[in-house]
Amino acid sequence: MANTILVGAQWGDEGKGKIIDVLTEEADVIVRSQGGNNAGHTVFVGKQKYVLHLVPSGILHRGKRCVIGNGVVVDPISLVEEIEGLRKLGVKARGRLFLSETAHLVLPYHRELDAQREVLKGRQKIGTTKRGIGPAYGDKAARVGLRVIDLVQPQRFEDKLRQRIKENNGVLKAFGAKPLSFARVHAAYRAAGDYLKPFVSNTVTLLHQACLRGESILFEGAQGTFLDIDHGTYPYVTSSNTTAGGACTGSGVPPHRIDRVVGVMKAYTTRVGEGPLPTENAEIADMLHAMGREFGATTGRPRRCGWFDSVATRHAAMVNGIDDLAVTNIDGLDALETIKVCIGYRLGGKRYDYFPSDLEALSGCVPIYAEFPGWRTPTSTIKSWKKLPAACRAYLKALEDLTGARLAIASVGPARDQTMFL
Ligand code: IMP
Ligand code: MG
Repeated sequence: MANTILVGAQWGDEGKGKIIDVLTEEADVIVRSQGGNNAGHTVFVGKQKYVLHLVPSGILHRGKRCVIGNGVVVDPISLVEEIEGLRKLGVKARGRLFLSETAHLVLPYHRELDAQREVLKGRQKIGTTKRGIGPAYGDKAARVGLRVIDLVQPQRFEDKLRQRIKENNGVLKAFGAKPLSFARVHAAYRAAGDYLKPFVSNTVTLLHQACLRGESILFEGAQGTFLDIDHGTYPYVTSSNTTAGGACTGSGVPPHRIDRVVGVMKAYTTRVGEGPLPTENAEIADMLHAMGREFGATTGRPRRCGWFDSVATRHAAMVNGIDDLAVTNIDGLDALETIKVCIGYRLGGKRYDYFPSDLEALSGCVPIYAEFPGWRTPTSTIKSWKKLPAACRAYLKALEDLTGARLAIASVGPARDQTMFL
């Protein structure tokens, strides 16, 4: 397999975890390059369900190496819990998981500030996962962040943490929130630092050497294109580059090493948190929720749902340079008589075939729909493309044409064997 970047082509939760898990078979190294424990990647191995937040899903495959790259923001305590959780399920991370020494840390004041800022925003809140992601990336850009390399150097960590807690307690006080106890935070994070020390490594060099040996790297994207800090529906976005370019800056692997970009998209659209979602539709949301689907893997929140939006996915194909598409959750539409697909927007008497960058314009856009006949047959046990109902194949081919990238994978359920390759 070539070096592959996998991205979400919508608003996150496209089913990336499952597709990554399938593609991992052919990869040697699996890399996370952005985001933090705001991500929730659900993978089923047999009947066993795993939800991973920071550790690449490749960890579930024996013998694969996994990297948490420099572009990730790492909550050390959350990472320790995840590694321990895996250990209890019989999955060993030691010697296979490598944590970048230049990744930034998420600390308790980031989580506190995330929550306080959301309260202050009131009805304009972003609907964050409250994991401290925005404030941690904010500190990184402001050049006051603490990094993994600081965490594993006791004296340096103590000095920097003391200073940062002092400053942030002032900010928390202004919010009317409780200040943090340096001693308590320090003790907990020092312990996490000791635990994580054997995992810490120079991952840029490690990945460079893997490239030189001709090994295959799979970049496991988190969140989705429209949550990208630059290309998403700002400010209703996350704080990292979720698009393909982020894989390079967030890992230190140069662009010319990338051979392929795979975009994952659902056969419909979902979003958690606030912000515009042009094709949002209560009927499809009620149907999916009644089926027990579309609840967040990280926060448990019910996801907002809507019809497939090809204006959005076409934009995603453009900014990510998507070569191959994976369509997931096809079985979620099995019961529908008619399925709608957004093929353009109407705004003030004008038709738009591209995704507007102005949020106000986007919020005013009314989708123009094309209708497709449903297949009204359960698809979740179907194992090959040819056996899918003709109406289902026609629908998926239409999504391929409208998005403008090659349909390569079709997924009809969460398990590894519910995947078809075209
Ligand atoms: P934050 O990343 O916690 O700051 O949240 C910012 C926005 O991104 C919110 O709308 C979240 O719901 C959304 N978000 C963050 N991570 C994910 C994810 O992994 N899947 C889906 N949405 C996410
Ligand atoms: Mg998710």
